[in-house]
Amino acid sequence: MLNEPDQLPLPQPVLGPLTRAAIFLVVTINPETESYEAVRSFCGDLAGLIRAVEFRDIDAGLTCIAAFGSDAWDRLFGNPRPAELHPFREFRSGKRHAIATPGDVLFHIRAGRLDICFELATQIMERIGDAVAIADEVQGFRYFEDRDLIGFVDGTENPRGTLALEAALVGAEDAPFAGGSYVIVQKYLHDMKAWNALSTEAQELIIGRRKLSDIELDDTTKPASAHTALTVIEEDGKEVKILRDNMPFGQPGRGEFGTYFIGYSRNPRVTELMLENMFVGRPPGNYDRLLDFSQPVTGGLFFAPSVTFLEGAGAEQPAAAAIATPPARSDPSSTSSVRNTSLGIGSLKGERHE
Ligand code: HEM
Repeated sequence: MLNEPDQLPLPQPVLGPLTRAAIFLVVTINPETESYEAVRSFCGDLAGLIRAVEFRDIDAGLTCIAAFGSDAWDRLFGNPRPAELHPFREFRSGKRHAIATPGDVLFHIRAGRLDICFELATQIMERIGDAVAIADEVQGFRYFEDRDLIGFVDGTENPRGTLALEAALVGAEDAPFAGGSYVIVQKYLHDMKAWNALSTEAQELIIGRRKLSDIELDDTTKPASAHTALTVIEEDGKEVKILRDNMPFGQPGRGEFGTYFIGYSRNPRVTELMLENMFVGRPPGNYDRLLDFSQPVTGGLFFAPSVTFLEGAGAEQPAAAAIATPPARSDPSSTSSVRNTSLGIGSLKGERHE
C-alpha cells in the first residue's frame, strides 16, 4: 500500500537536527465544540504558517511538530486512531513519581535562534489562543557542548540516519498512521545543590559516562543502576532505541534548573519501559539514582501524525459516528513487551525531512 512514492505520507520533522533553541508549548483545548473545531481547522493551516515564519530567515532552520494527546485525538479526529495512543502512563515507587499532567496538544518548535521560535509560538497562539489554555510553556536552550545543566553531554547515543527513522517513525505495522511518531515529554527540575555536592566520580557512576570526555564507562565499572544502563532496552537480542532532543531550561534567579525530556518513538512502550526501569527499577529497587536529584513536574504522551494527515484533517469534519462512540483505548497499565520493530518500513527509508 505504501510502496508508491506518491502515496508516502510526509512525516513531520521528527528527524530534524538538534538545534540551539526550542520552545515546548503544551495546551489544553477548551471544552466547547467550537474550540475543537478551531483547533482542527488550524491543523490544515499549520504547515503554511510555519513556512511563512521560516521564510523570514531560512537559515535559522525553523521546524515545528504538532502532537495530540489521547483524549483530544478522539474529539478532534475520531476514528481511526493511532494503535498505541493512550493517556500518559504513570510510574510510582518510593519517593519517585512519573506524574501525568494535563495536555491536549504539544508544539515542539525548534530553530537555530530563539527569536524565530518565539515568533512562531506567538503566531500559533494568535490563531488558537481563544480555543486553548496554556498547560506549560518552556523555552529551552543549548548549553555548552550540548551538555545538560547537570554537566553531562546529552544526546550522544541518539540513533542517526536510517536508525533514527526506524526508531522514531511508525511504519507498516499501523499503515494509516505510517510516518507518525509517539512523543513522551517530561519537565524535570534538578536539585543542583545536592548534585553538585557529589564528587565527579559519583556523578559519573550515576550517568554511566565520563563527565569531561563523555566516554562510556566500561561494563566492569558501570553499575546496573546507571542511567545509561537502565535506558538500554533490548528485544530479541537487538537494542530498541528512541530519538531524544532534551533541552536545558531554567531561571537561575529563582533557583530553577531543569531538563526538558522529549523522546520520539515508533511505539510508546519503548519509552515507557525506560521510564519503568528508571522509576521502579530493573529489577525493582535497582532504580535510576539520577531521580534522587531530579524530579519530573509534568508528563504527557502525544502522537505526531504525518503532515499529510494533518492537512487532510484540517479540511474535514470527523465522522459523527466516530465522535459519538470513542474507540477503546489501549490499556495504559499493560506491561506487554514492545512490538517487533523489524516490521517493514522499507517504503519510508531514505525519506528525511529536516
Ligand atoms: C533528568 C532528565 C534526564 C537527563 C538529565 C538525562 C541525561 C542523559 C545523559 C547525560 C545521557 C548520556 C548521553 C547520551 O547518550 O545522551 C543520557 C542517555 C540516555 N537517556 Fe537520558 N536523561 C534524562 C531523562 C531520560 C528519560 C526520562 C529517558 C527515557 C524515558 C532517557 C533516555 C535515555 C536514553 C535512551 C539514553 C541513551 C542510553 C544509551 O544508549 O547509552 N533519559 N541521558
